[in-house]
Amino acid sequence: MKLCVALDLPSEKENISLARSLKDCDVWLKVGLRSFVRDGKNIVNELKGINNNFKIFLDLKLYDIPNTMADAAESMAELGVEMFNVHASSGKIAMKMVMDRLKEMKNRPIVLSVTALTSFDESGFWAVYNQSIQEKALSFAKDTYESGMDGVVCSVYESLMIKEHTSGGFLTLTPGIRPFGSEEKDDQKRVADIKAANENKCDFIVVGRPIYHAKNPLAAVEDIVNSINALK
Ligand code: C5P
Repeated sequence: MKLCVALDLPSEKENISLARSLKDCDVWLKVGLRSFVRDGKNIVNELKGINNNFKIFLDLKLYDIPNTMADAAESMAELGVEMFNVHASSGKIAMKMVMDRLKEMKNRPIVLSVTALTSFDESGFWAVYNQSIQEKALSFAKDTYESGMDGVVCSVYESLMIKEHTSGGFLTLTPGIRPFGSEEKDDQKRVADIKAANENKCDFIVVGRPIYHAKNPLAAVEDIVNSINALK
């Protein structure tokens, strides 16, 4: 299991300074909507400039018509990021077209789809999708698997079930992690800790606010990485 640190801070300067403090840590970095819209594609080079071994997850959650998604996927892959994602609700035709567009690339990024956002509780999810989280997340995951993608974004509570119904090698990346047990949930609903993520065979955990809100963000990251290593 790998830790992916979300760079969602209020300014580019703060994101860069957090990344610099983590330059010797074995972590992935997540560039999300806030940073990409504000700071532009050069943020990827800046982060790689800090440590070329940093792996970058571009979390833009594409949702559009198939051709537009495939065009955008190609552009994201050309930025040299190691992972990006789309919404599974964009459908199998769009997801297949994305993967088809990347198939000629030598080192294509890992591609995930978002199933059910971790900020949804059951009633909020039902209002949009008319189905339970477990049922719909699983059907989205099967669509994603059949489209040739590498895995899904889901909560810890769907991870194991998704692997059992697709393949053990089908990746799960789980936000909504509150590693220290005492933090605020913020807008997340389906939260879990590191032990639960490990028991549910999550491949990546994403952590943002519990790191920035810690007195010492580097120490918080080191704590999380040590806890992950202790589980091995
Ligand atoms: O601060 P926190 O740890 O809640 O951050 C979680 C990060 O993961 C945010 O950047 C959020 O955009 C992202 N994310 C999520 N749920 C998803 C997909 C991504 O929370 N399903």
